[in-house]
Amino acid sequence: MTRIKHLYVHVPFCKSICYYCDFCHCIYDESIAKQWLERLKKEIEETCLDQYETIYIGGGTPTALSCEQLDVLLNLVDPYASSVKEYTIEVNPESLDEEKARIFRKHHVNRISMGVQTSDDRLLKNLNRHHTFEDVKKRIAMLRRNGFENISVDLMYSLPDQTMDCLEQSIDDVVSLNVEHISLYSLTIEENTVFGKKGIKNLDEDTEADMYELIVQKLMDRDYIHYEVSNFARDGRISMHNMGYWNYDDFLGVSMGAAGKIGSNRYTNTRDLKRYLNEEDIRDENLYLKTDEMAFENIMMSLRTIYGLDIEEFNRKYDCDLLKKYKKGVENPSILITDGRMICTDLSILNRVLLDFMI
Ligand SMILES: C[S@@+](CC[C@H](N)C(=O)[O-])C[C@H]1O[C@@H](n2cnc3c(N)ncnc32)[C@H](O)[C@@H]1O
Ligand code: SF4
Repeated sequence: MTRIKHLYVHVPFCKSICYYCDFCHCIYDESIAKQWLERLKKEIEETCLDQYETIYIGGGTPTALSCEQLDVLLNLVDPYASSVKEYTIEVNPESLDEEKARIFRKHHVNRISMGVQTSDDRLLKNLNRHHTFEDVKKRIAMLRRNGFENISVDLMYSLPDQTMDCLEQSIDDVVSLNVEHISLYSLTIEENTVFGKKGIKNLDEDTEADMYELIVQKLMDRDYIHYEVSNFARDGRISMHNMGYWNYDDFLGVSMGAAGKIGSNRYTNTRDLKRYLNEEDIRDENLYLKTDEMAFENIMMSLRTIYGLDIEEFNRKYDCDLLKKYKKGVENPSILITDGRMICTDLSILNRVLLDFMI
């Protein structure tokens, strides 16, 4: 079996629940988090076999854990991190402090991903976020003081009551943070959230598209490379871990709610805390894809970035001739074949382009 290069660890706790979010999460409780750490230790010992090139501790909110628990968590991961190139942890400005930043440094975490969402304090409140933009600025300054040179922030758009002017201000404010990386999220109204239950509606599609265009333009004007549909980087600081997903590499996901991909196998762990803590079998879904399904998924993921897909490697992996097999897709005017790679030249219409690859 080939070596797995990427590890994802899901921390399912949050201090409070944002009105839009349907990620796997529950309200932090010290004693439940302790039990979770014990269960995770067992899962990690059973499933982690490699030294990983990228590690991503996501959530939920890893910083919802106490300092002591964060240290225990990172100690569990340490034996698999000796040759890690990129080690990311997600943080929420509300629960990040200097002591936690020092614990990250002690364990050689070298990338921070912070949920910022918007710089408008009124909108933050409407999302049930318990921090202000001033808090964001202070936390980023603190991270810099502690030696973090690779910081990413999440920026949301298409929010209820968000105007173009308000979005423009948020982009300017986020740019002023001087971070290396920005991930964009267009609000999705999920059924199982406060917004979903309240019947909040999405902004209309045209406004959403205009907002996306505005963000792309403004970030590119400020020297961010638009390297993936929803991701921007400066100074070459693209997300190596996410590049693994887009390159269609295998990855191991551990903890409740985590997903993984190993060869043709796709799995998701249960989102049910009781089951995760008490049962041996924690798999919720365990699918095996056919070769053609994997080949299409591979195209779908790889065309998301400006680096596109390596044609020779694809042909070897799926024992086919891409240019012949996906003739209709390859002939789409937004597809470029260059230097042995296939690239989508207009990421904003990727979904439409992909229709031509469906066979
Ligand atoms: C796990 S959270 C980030 C870390 C941390 N929990 C926080 O919120 O600060 C990942 C990101 O997903 C995005 N997100 C979550 N739910 C979303 C939704 N329904 N629509 C769009 N983006 C969403 C947010 O931008 C959020 O920052
Ligand atoms: S956005 Fe982050 S803090 Fe808010 S509920 Fe989701 S995971 Fe928790």
